[in-house]
Amino acid sequence: MINEERLWNRLMALGELGKQPSGGVTRFSFTKEERQAKQLVASYMEEAGMRIREDAVGNLIGRRDGRLANAPAVLIGSHIDTVPDGGMFDGALGVLAGIEVVQTLNEQRIQHDHPIEVIAFTDEEGSRFGFGMIGSRAMAGTLREEQLGQVDSDGVTIGEAMKRVGLDPLNIGEASKEPSTVKAYVELHIEQGRVLEKQGLPAGVVSGIAGPLWTRWILTGEAGHAGANPMDSRKDPLMAAAEIMQFIEEEANKYPATVATVGQISVKPGGVNVIPGEVEFTLDHRTIDEEIRNVVENKIIAQAEQICRRRRVELYIEPLQRVTPAPCSDSIQEVIREACRKTGIEPFTLPSGAGHDGMQFYNAWPMGMIFIRSKEGISHNPAEWSSKEDCAIGTKILFETIRELT
Ligand code: GLV
Ligand code: MN
Ligand code: MN
Repeated sequence: MINEERLWNRLMALGELGKQPSGGVTRFSFTKEERQAKQLVASYMEEAGMRIREDAVGNLIGRRDGRLANAPAVLIGSHIDTVPDGGMFDGALGVLAGIEVVQTLNEQRIQHDHPIEVIAFTDEEGSRFGFGMIGSRAMAGTLREEQLGQVDSDGVTIGEAMKRVGLDPLNIGEASKEPSTVKAYVELHIEQGRVLEKQGLPAGVVSGIAGPLWTRWILTGEAGHAGANPMDSRKDPLMAAAEIMQFIEEEANKYPATVATVGQISVKPGGVNVIPGEVEFTLDHRTIDEEIRNVVENKIIAQAEQICRRRRVELYIEPLQRVTPAPCSDSIQEVIREACRKTGIEPFTLPSGAGHDGMQFYNAWPMGMIFIRSKEGISHNPAEWSSKEDCAIGTKILFETIRELT
């Protein structure tokens, strides 16, 4: 069976790359830290006996051929980029577990018909460019050239960042896979919520993935002297933003599976005694039901327009990414349920509130996910934690799933 120690040691070693003083990890796409992480992961793929390549968008792919030369491949993937000051399990576990599965098959000389590919996707998180799942979009063939124009906080575009690490943005089409060459996609990930912990279960089967809608809001008013301008004469974009944010929270609260988060804000010019002239903030808004997401989105925009009119502030909403919620395939869910039983775990099904690379594939080929328990549901935080035992159980379920699918 799988080697728990090896898996855990690799997780710890990968977690050292991009380590912050807080104990968290920051590895943005196309940076030195991310490149180092991919090199380390490539060395593990090599130890596992895989053939390695990097595709046109920087996805790192390790392959183990099967008995049938031209059979469609079973893909195991996740990501090794992180959010700012994130945890060491989010994404990393799925990639390293995939490698562990292949290394175990190799060591035990277990044959399989279908080829297996383990993939470390480029930029799942979207932290650098406000636009995520870049590698999986490219593999699904849905990444468009104009999307490579999105910029990071230094004004560097995705395309430029790619060039700096030797990737040609004109070639992204080459990263797409023909659906007939793929049998299934499976991902193991930490839950990042409290459901499994409350159930007292180490692992679960994912039913579907909520879709993130990301926008950047730019409010423009008029900067002015904080002492000399009476309250009723102002065009203060920050006060308009505050009112909008309050409405966003109230609205999200009305729908049980809807969440909305303002995660970035900047105020210009940013002086203690200066009425702000411009405010930017981001909104991350998601649910598992796209219709509800549309209803909530329209209500928030209508209310925001009213607030800005009343406060004589201009509003511009820039779309960043609009990802459709993705149900996991019934057939893969069933295979994972059986794999749970084989591992001695009662199959339990739950949805994912977090986004994952697999969402990009739900229209292209069968896709499924396995979750393991997260300590106190903490994630996107240095304190993110899953136990060594739970990581091993999830990897065993992945192993059984892959054996069945291949
Ligand atoms: C990624 O973790 C996301 O859900 O935004
Ligand atoms: Mn993740
Ligand atoms: Mn994440």
